[in-house]
Amino acid sequence: MPSLDDVTRPPGRPPRILYGGDWNPEQWPEETWTEDVRLMRRAGVTSVTLGVFSWARIEPSPGKREFDWLDRLMDLTHTHGIGVVLATPTSSPPPWMGRLHPETLPRDEDGRTEWWGSRQHFSHSSEVYRQYAASITEDLAARYAGHPALTMWHINNEYCTYDWGDEAARTFRRWLQDRYGTLDALNTAWGTDFWSQRYGDWAEVLPPRRAHYLKNPAHVLDFRRYTSDQLLACYRAERDIVRRHTPDLPVTTNFMPFWSGQDGWTWAAEEDLVSVDVYPDPRDPGSAAYNAMIGDLTRSQAGGGPWMVMEQAAGAVNWRGVNHPKPYGLNRLWALQAIAHGADAVCYFQWRQSRQGAEKFHSGMLGHAGERGRVFQETVRIGEDLARLGPRVAGSRVTTGIAVLHDWNSWWAGDQEGALSRRVDHAEIVGAWHRALWDAHLPASFAHPHHDLGCHRLVLVPHLYLLDDTAIDNLVAYVRGGGTLVCGFLTGIADQDDRVRPGGMDARLCELLGIDLLQEWWPLDEGEHVDCGTFRGTLWSEELIAAPGAETVAAYRGGELDGLPAVLRNGRARYLTTLPEPAALSRLLSAVAEEAGVRPVVDGLPADVEAVRRGDLLFLLRHGHDPVTVTLPGRHRDLLTGTEIAGALKLERYGVAVLEVSGAQVPEPADAGTREEHGPGARPVPEGRR
Ligand code: GAL
Repeated sequence: MPSLDDVTRPPGRPPRILYGGDWNPEQWPEETWTEDVRLMRRAGVTSVTLGVFSWARIEPSPGKREFDWLDRLMDLTHTHGIGVVLATPTSSPPPWMGRLHPETLPRDEDGRTEWWGSRQHFSHSSEVYRQYAASITEDLAARYAGHPALTMWHINNEYCTYDWGDEAARTFRRWLQDRYGTLDALNTAWGTDFWSQRYGDWAEVLPPRRAHYLKNPAHVLDFRRYTSDQLLACYRAERDIVRRHTPDLPVTTNFMPFWSGQDGWTWAAEEDLVSVDVYPDPRDPGSAAYNAMIGDLTRSQAGGGPWMVMEQAAGAVNWRGVNHPKPYGLNRLWALQAIAHGADAVCYFQWRQSRQGAEKFHSGMLGHAGERGRVFQETVRIGEDLARLGPRVAGSRVTTGIAVLHDWNSWWAGDQEGALSRRVDHAEIVGAWHRALWDAHLPASFAHPHHDLGCHRLVLVPHLYLLDDTAIDNLVAYVRGGGTLVCGFLTGIADQDDRVRPGGMDARLCELLGIDLLQEWWPLDEGEHVDCGTFRGTLWSEELIAAPGAETVAAYRGGELDGLPAVLRNGRARYLTTLPEPAALSRLLSAVAEEAGVRPVVDGLPADVEAVRRGDLLFLLRHGHDPVTVTLPGRHRDLLTGTEIAGALKLERYGVAVLEVSGAQVPEPADAGTREEHGPGARPVPEGRR
């Protein structure tokens, strides 16, 4: 399998970064298409994604095919040297499908139908839907397989649907039969003897529909696992069809960022290239750190190799309560930030802003203001920057010494109605820990709890409520092998069936973390804090007795938990029984990182200046409004401006510098940590032809 760049780059041209976006030209008269490609060339666009929502155009009535318009578009892009990421249009079936085959429409938890008139109104379990999807994918792939513009496949769009309907009930039962074999095993796994839920016949097992009171959490957990797997089966079916026609082209599907609906590790392993859609709020001061986290997670899902921003917005989106544009420079800053975190492609939704339809107020690379508009001017500027960076950046890797563990199974299990605190949110806790690292200028990667962790100097477990035996053994082996580990509260409380471990926490983990007895959990209210001596804890606290030999690094002061451990240390393993406030968490993690031999990429950086090392380049990104000066040892050349930097570097508002550095002057994090590699579950963007 070739790399993204291998297939998208015209022969003889140096490596480059893919740049472009969703192009939905069926909205426009054909004269506009010609104008579009002219402007794309001006902006340095190298790739467009066609066909994402084109099903009704290609198949206006059942079985009919209209490809002429798409033929003309494929030819047009090729003539202008622009590659095509061709999407299977299966995320938005035409209205005729719902009318003729109502069973293709999904049902919500209350049994209500999700009708056509928007998009993504397909039941992942509908045989009829799957047949139509396979048929159009087959014809699309057969028609364009040899087309010179075709560079890559984009399957469906943001798989994210749920279905509680009757056909889903049947496929849910089949999925459960595969998992458990017998109804007895299912009854045991779900603990159905509580509340008289014991099933006597498979026909009684339903998706977890609207019910009177709390649902069985193991049932809900399996429904989430099943939903992820059902959607994955839809993806696989289409992927296998396109692969048959174009075995050399990479296949992807665009993830929503840090989205709970799909097990991102399992999905990523099924893709040739991992891609994600990122839409941070321009007004949110946390957006830069959020982008960094999405970049780190996506790169890690790609096995540490290059990944793709499939969609982002050039300006405002139109789905928040209030939708703010990006001030000039912010679009460029975030595009280059993605590159710093390992992306080899930055693309947008969408090329030309719509004049009609649900997203006419959503920005495009070419906004309503047109060619003279500042959004388009920035589109051109980004194209120039990417063209400059491509030959040096494309294909290079980001190295980090820290891994943050994350697992969707644990997220799903922890997110249950009967939890002790609704305030405990997996994504927020993971975000808080990653943010703490980001604030300390410590680059990080993500890993699954089953991955080989030995290559990371420091492993963090912000919130893995569910850990199976393999994961627990992996953590124990990691620390025994010399690794440094920090676990957050509620680590490993439940097994794979969401059954609380005997004693409230697995005995192996208790031994590892230095816990003698876990007495009670004491969740905290909004605004409530616990005094931990040198810092304040939020969200959660725990009443536990330390094992002999474990050190209470910080203790609660006052209240019911007075004197009990807030932070417990047992050799190279630490356990945090609360969530320290942001600055304290950042200090704590920096201190542990330093002890583990992991240092910031650049020392003494001002806040809101991010430094990321990618290959032999150092990206410095100014996420703030005022200019700042950064002091760096040695002399460096800025690839964006071609200027020599000696000593001090001034970064303007939203400024970016990409410096060529020698290892001695700015150490690669690998010097302090190790190269990021994953075990089973994730795979790098393949480099050779399949
Ligand atoms: C994405 C979607 C795009 C577009 C975009 C708007 O979720 O894939 O088609 O709707 O959001 O922000």
